[in-house]
Amino acid sequence: MSARTVEHYLRPGTLQLPALPPLSLYVHLPWCLKKCPYCDFNSHEAKGPAPEARYLDALRADLEAALPLVWGRPVISVFIGGGTPSLFSPDSIERLLADIRARLPLVPGCEITLEANPGTFERERFCAFRAAGVTRLSIGVQSFHDDSLRAIGRVHDAAQARAAVEEAASAFDSFNIDLMYALPGQTLELLQADLQAALAFAPPHLSIYHLTLEPNTLFATHPPPLPDEDLAAQMLDLIGERSAAAGLQRYEVSAFARDGHRCRHNLNYWQFGDYLGIGAGAHGKLSFPHRVLRQQRWREPARYMDGALAGQALSQDDEVARAELPFEFMLNALRLREGVPRALFSERTGLPTSAIDAAVLGAQQRGLLIADLHRLQPTERGFDFLSDLQSMFLPARSPSR
Ligand SMILES: C[S@@+](CC[C@H](N)C(=O)[O-])C[C@H]1O[C@@H](n2cnc3c(N)ncnc32)[C@H](O)[C@@H]1O
Ligand code: SF4
Repeated sequence: MSARTVEHYLRPGTLQLPALPPLSLYVHLPWCLKKCPYCDFNSHEAKGPAPEARYLDALRADLEAALPLVWGRPVISVFIGGGTPSLFSPDSIERLLADIRARLPLVPGCEITLEANPGTFERERFCAFRAAGVTRLSIGVQSFHDDSLRAIGRVHDAAQARAAVEEAASAFDSFNIDLMYALPGQTLELLQADLQAALAFAPPHLSIYHLTLEPNTLFATHPPPLPDEDLAAQMLDLIGERSAAAGLQRYEVSAFARDGHRCRHNLNYWQFGDYLGIGAGAHGKLSFPHRVLRQQRWREPARYMDGALAGQALSQDDEVARAELPFEFMLNALRLREGVPRALFSERTGLPTSAIDAAVLGAQQRGLLIADLHRLQPTERGFDFLSDLQSMFLPARSPSR
């Protein structure tokens, strides 16, 4: 689709946003050594070296075309995700960051995260990523147990996982370890060993995801034997206990951090901030005084590169409907353990708080939400039954005929 002019987005509308939210930048690098059987991210097996130079040209063109939509706005965080961004050479990451800095005003001390996989030449690379300007590394470990790693089709083993985390800990002040739980054949004891191994590195941040079977993955068609719901619930309790004992606070459904190490980039998503997303399949959310926009880039890397280089990176560009905004806001905000300031709803959606009054009252009556003058916060029960709570903010269905 052809890009629209900025006047199109600035035209009058029914929303009244008092101010624009903080802006983040997401950059998607879509290649991996091998596609994991559980993964539904926009990631593609790199059959041979990735076309780094052409992809960087496409990213630069994509960013240039998007600039009028974010003109003059400071960028509070950058996240280079994938795929496996650590497959790109440090020189390429340096060029990417130089291209970004030349076009967008990054705030002083801007958080710049890069996702890295164990087994992608970390010894030479991690220090060089740091020198290129990356401030935070997120390492996709998933497990420190060889059998579990094999069962989920990872290309790395436990020794490589340990080596990668050691290297990250020595090169970066802030880093994250990604783990998954409820893995095929995993017992409480195996999870306990994974947690112990992860916490031994004193990580400033830990993300732990329940393995989900996503449609269109190999695991959806050939599901492995997985722990049942009861065991998965016990696993989550264990994760809570062990991470708290190690000084990590659960501040979001899957995210645990020491003081001062919460991920600013992801926090901005959960607080319904804005993000420009560039790269294959990248999503973006951008606000204007009278509307909120969602964008998506072409998913397939070759299609994306051709499109972006011709000034047509977008495959979708839609306004979020007024009726969808309460749910979209709450879907994110309620993932935060401490919730959000009540005033943030109107600030970010441009809607009056009366748009959620009835649903807030209903959620309070069911004991799922704490709502006073200042905050909206899930109760412990609301946090445990989060999808029930979130769904209370879905737009009312029109009566069927
Ligand atoms: C987009 S992936 C990219 C990270 C990196 N390529 C890797 O795999 O290590 C980010 C994280 O999402 C999590 N993830 C991916 N697929 C998942 C699934 N089906 N269920 C739960 N977590 C998943 C993994 O923990 C992974 O580290
Ligand atoms: S390495 Fe990460 S992004 Fe790539 S296929 Fe595996 S889980 Fe997906």
